[in-house]
Amino acid sequence: MLKKNADWRMDYIWFEFWNGRKVSEKYFIKTFGCQMNVYDSSRIADMLKNEGYEETNKQAEADIVLFNTCHIREKAAEKLFSDLGRAKLVADERFEAGKHTIIGVLGCVVQAEDEQIIKRAPYVNFALGPLMYHKIPEVLRKIKADKEHESVVNTDFPAESKFDFLPENKAQGACSFLAIQEGCNNFCTYCVVPYTRGVEYSRPVADVIKEAKRLLDTGTLEINLLGQNVNSYHGEDESGKERDLAYLLHRVAELDGVKRIRYTTSYPADMSDDLIACHKDIDVLMPYLHLPIQSGSDRILKAMNRRHTSGDYLRIVEKLHKANPNIGMSSDFIVGFPGENDEDFQKTLDVVNQVKYIQAFSFKYSRRAGTPAAVMENQVEEKVKKERLEILQTLLFDYQTKFNKSCVGKVMPVLLEQKGRHKGQLIGRTPYMQNLHVETKSANMNKIVNVKIVEATTNSLTGEEI
Ligand code: SAH
Ligand code: SF4
Ligand code: F3S
Repeated sequence: MLKKNADWRMDYIWFEFWNGRKVSEKYFIKTFGCQMNVYDSSRIADMLKNEGYEETNKQAEADIVLFNTCHIREKAAEKLFSDLGRAKLVADERFEAGKHTIIGVLGCVVQAEDEQIIKRAPYVNFALGPLMYHKIPEVLRKIKADKEHESVVNTDFPAESKFDFLPENKAQGACSFLAIQEGCNNFCTYCVVPYTRGVEYSRPVADVIKEAKRLLDTGTLEINLLGQNVNSYHGEDESGKERDLAYLLHRVAELDGVKRIRYTTSYPADMSDDLIACHKDIDVLMPYLHLPIQSGSDRILKAMNRRHTSGDYLRIVEKLHKANPNIGMSSDFIVGFPGENDEDFQKTLDVVNQVKYIQAFSFKYSRRAGTPAAVMENQVEEKVKKERLEILQTLLFDYQTKFNKSCVGKVMPVLLEQKGRHKGQLIGRTPYMQNLHVETKSANMNKIVNVKIVEATTNSLTGEEI
């Protein structure tokens, strides 16, 4: 669909000449939301680099400014519009200096808001939904070819898979995300994801293996297989047979050079026994699992349309512990879902006390237009949501701190992936996803190094190289 864009007045400056050298156009990309968006942004960056653009982390330098957006909670979506307002000011300043800026919005807000984005921010040149970003080069060409262009909005759920149109990617560090599944058929009553990412789609096994090999060949040590509901993976193998995540994990684990595997995010009802057995059988599968429960109350889980009870969930956790006694659990929680009373909330706290999560994310329920829970009558007061969130987070942080402190004195393999704030310091991740700081030589960057934990706080560990 096309909309008139009033702000388009001048020809594009394709290349700047500086010191007689051709300087390519630059793009800036800001990413909101989940790991899938982080992965998508890296694929978008690959595409733009392939088209000759250079990345910049300074928005004022960018000829193309992109926002890859998230619609999961109200705050996440609102952030976009304040960022867009600022981007418009920067674009105006650049315009005064004779430079054009293309502003593009991508991701889940686009899918949800569609044309509304252009209504609220008419200076946006294009908006593409999360399944349409392979069209970016085409859209950019179109916009550049037509100075009086109209804003492009495309929120189709295409019949083709975007993955088939993306250029080959390389590792961007020692840890790489690899999307294997997208979309969700679960329709939890609070959640926008089935509407923004569409129905479940699983990439074929051969595609996943090809991408995994490429990532490993270019420096990846850890692969995190991603999906909105990753454990419902059902991709076709080379012979056309449908395969599950357990099968895929075994295939990825066989590849040369893979030192660590993770998968995110899982849905409790899809934790099959075969998948649980992988935590015993695959030694490179990290002893950490993010398995969201959302609430400990069966009444609330039912109203949320979750296909599991708290009992089912606890039984899965028990099986996982049997498969690997060292496994650490993580979860997502929502407090203040419509109808949640003190008793329901207490059941959530009970689950936390049983599972003793080593890390977790918790949110106040956010009403999302178009979802069934948004129109439920018994909405919980903001004040109550706030109180419950504080109580829950205090308890969760307490377990997280206890776990971190229990690591002091232990030696752990740490994948060092970032420079620290101080000279000679690197930051990495333990098998349990804890952040760890260590003084070590810079040559250890992107390597797995054995570190003795000497100090621990709620959010990070300090170690010494041994
Ligand atoms: N597919 C994943 C999670 C996707 S969204 C799963 O099912 O676990 C990430 C988290 O955001 C969810 O687990 C949930 O805790 C939270 N979330 C989703 N919708 C929300 C809403 N309307 N209000 C508050 N939190 C929400
Ligand atoms: Fe959303 Fe539920 Fe699907 Fe997770 S399983 S993405 S919370 S609908
Ligand atoms: Fe947000 Fe979309 Fe991910 S709504 S959490 S970016 S799937």
